[in-house]
Amino acid sequence: MTAYAAITGWGMAVPERVVTNADLEQLVETSDEWIVTRTGIRERRVAVPGERTSTFGTEAGRRALAMAGLAPGDIDLVIVATCTPDQPLPATACLVQANLGIARAAAFDVVAACSGFIYGLTVATSMIRSGAARNVLLVAAEILTHYVDWSDRNTCVLFGDGAGAVVLQPSTEPTGLLHGELGAAGEHADLLAVDAGGTALRLTPELLACGRQYVHMNGRDVFKLAVRGMGDSSQRVIAAAGLTTDDIDLIVPHQANLRIIEATAKRLGISMERVFVNLDRYGNTSAATIPIALVEAATHGRLRQGDTILLTAFGAGLTWASAVVRWGAPASQG
Ligand code: UT7
Repeated sequence: MTAYAAITGWGMAVPERVVTNADLEQLVETSDEWIVTRTGIRERRVAVPGERTSTFGTEAGRRALAMAGLAPGDIDLVIVATCTPDQPLPATACLVQANLGIARAAAFDVVAACSGFIYGLTVATSMIRSGAARNVLLVAAEILTHYVDWSDRNTCVLFGDGAGAVVLQPSTEPTGLLHGELGAAGEHADLLAVDAGGTALRLTPELLACGRQYVHMNGRDVFKLAVRGMGDSSQRVIAAAGLTTDDIDLIVPHQANLRIIEATAKRLGISMERVFVNLDRYGNTSAATIPIALVEAATHGRLRQGDTILLTAFGAGLTWASAVVRWGAPASQG
């Protein structure tokens, strides 16, 4: 009986184009000082025309597969966590699957905004545990800047683009996702949304002229709910895993705002030395922030085989998710 799903490979891919706070000073009434002190962000990667969500998702997936030492044919499920798909139909997972030559595998998207990677990790792990899937490629990929109004200083300084991916394989060792919690508060959907472009509001020239195709957010309310939601669900998953905060080697939180991360760490009584932060270079890439951060933490030696880590996220929906994960133990063979 497969009890666990080990993370056996990982990879990331981001656009080459860098947009700094100084660049944004040319577009809107803002300053590097405001952006750094209010958010912690210094620069972000922005896709150029021709680059799609699947462009970065495919490259991140290719790197994760190579690291796991798997061939495309070994994968039987592809999940893409994204709220910025290439197109309404089909799922971006099918496009990534085709780009990588992963024949016949099941493929679908998970739409849970910034919580999408942990939602996807939970679904992937559950499918491996149940025997419905064996080797899973989980990608989180976003081009949030597609929905950014570059004349709105409230939002344009916050978001960036990119992708991260992991490969999950069955294991009998206690590794991968040990305990997780997913949640949502749909009654707060209006606090962070793109209003038009779906079936509720078809895009018309009038709506386009009003900018209803862009993301809008009540930053203050989302901020408060995020700190509470990430802090409380983190405490619950740590307790459910039979652990205390002392057992957590590293927190890899969703990267939306350094002040949210600091307040969440404070709520948990964990010092910032045990928190991984890279939003200064990428901004908020929604579902992709956590896997991009995982890849960088592993690459820079902040994350080692067997480490116990806490992932926690909060975003549009509103959704939240937290997970205790053991990093990178080997998959069992056979
Ligand atoms: O990933 C999904 C989850 N999303 C989040 O977690 C984001 C949550 N929210 C936030 O990160 C913060 O609320 C923001 C960074 C969006 C805003 O920070 P804040 O400290 O909550 O600022 P505020 O919205 O209270 O605005 C303070 C002032 C306002 O001016 P007035 O009304 O006080 O005169 C804004 O107009 O700052 C102004 N402001 C700016 N000033 C310079 C807003 N954006 C900017 C800007 N540059 N880019």
